[in-house]
Amino acid sequence: MSQLFYVMTIPGLETLAFNEIRTRISEAELVKFARGIALFKASASPGNLLELHTVEDVFFSLAHIRGLGHGRDALRVLHSATLNADILQGLALWRRTSGGRPAKTWRVVSQKAGTHDFRRIDAGQAVVAALQKAMPRGMRLVKDDADVEIWLWLSGSEALIGLRLSDATMRHRRYKQEHLPASLRPTIGAAMSWLAHPTPQDIVLDPLCGAGTIIIERALLAPFAQAMGGDIRTEAVAMARRNARAAKVAASWNVWDARSLPLEEASVTRIMTNLPFGKQIGSHETNVELYTLLAREFRRVLTPDGLLVALTSEDRLLNMILQDAGWRINKKVVLVVLGLPASIFVAEPA
Ligand SMILES: C[S@@+](CC[C@H](N)C(=O)[O-])C[C@H]1O[C@@H](n2cnc3c(N)ncnc32)[C@H](O)[C@@H]1O
Repeated sequence: MSQLFYVMTIPGLETLAFNEIRTRISEAELVKFARGIALFKASASPGNLLELHTVEDVFFSLAHIRGLGHGRDALRVLHSATLNADILQGLALWRRTSGGRPAKTWRVVSQKAGTHDFRRIDAGQAVVAALQKAMPRGMRLVKDDADVEIWLWLSGSEALIGLRLSDATMRHRRYKQEHLPASLRPTIGAAMSWLAHPTPQDIVLDPLCGAGTIIIERALLAPFAQAMGGDIRTEAVAMARRNARAAKVAASWNVWDARSLPLEEASVTRIMTNLPFGKQIGSHETNVELYTLLAREFRRVLTPDGLLVALTSEDRLLNMILQDAGWRINKKVVLVVLGLPASIFVAEPA
């Protein structure tokens, strides 16, 4: 039987996440995209959905409301939609993803974008009031650390109420033992890996690897021949090594200067990297020089049929430098990283 699910993604990665859903669950049928959301029908087992790499959270949809009215009317609609939702089906799916353990506690999380003539807290309260009637008797409402979370998402006149099937380990991953400032969200690393058209023959390089997220995500996504990461800072390389060990990923890790890599010409088939944004690390001025030298060095070590996938918030700068250095830009995905607009460039040597 087909049911309604939705995933939450980093804003900008919705269509890419739905591509991943379609390759894993071929009958999945898109209902709609919203900012950071893909809503779809599928008869998927929730276990399959929790294996997605490019999404932050997975929800069983309890209600999808369009044309939400105003004031008390809107709150009444939220209340009755929750009351009529198939909570028991949602709880049964939750139990399957949680190893059969019974849910004892619940809470409501509400998010609101746009202007409304009611407060976020009132909308959340309308859902809570309905759930107090609809939840099984043995379950208790708590403030934090609930077993089951019901999320209310409101954007203009549209609302989604969903039972969260994933937990924080989906977005943060279990391997991430240590974080660095400017460390990348794993789902972005997975999205970059996806955009790099993975093949089992790939020799993958992240020349500015930080805590190693991109290489690890690439390795977890699909088979590859060889993977290498490196960074100018010894402590970053040590961290990448520890994270890779925790993820059971075999890759080589090196301390180096990415402007002059100890690698042969045309020796790697994929370069995937998160360039310094010039905010937490470096500045726009240092980036002008750094990006110029990197574009040249990346071209040297990449095979002529190879691909570069690079993330930056310096869209205009990278665009100009790649073109000047003889790259063809195939695709650009615009997303939001730590509140900043950023772009993932997919480029090949022209
Ligand atoms: C934006 S961070 C990368 C974050 C990484 N993707 C992660 O998830 O942790 C940029 C990294 O580039 C490194 N870096 C800066 N200049 C470098 C250079 N010339 N050679 C190698 N690494 C460099 C920094 O030390 C930093 O770890």
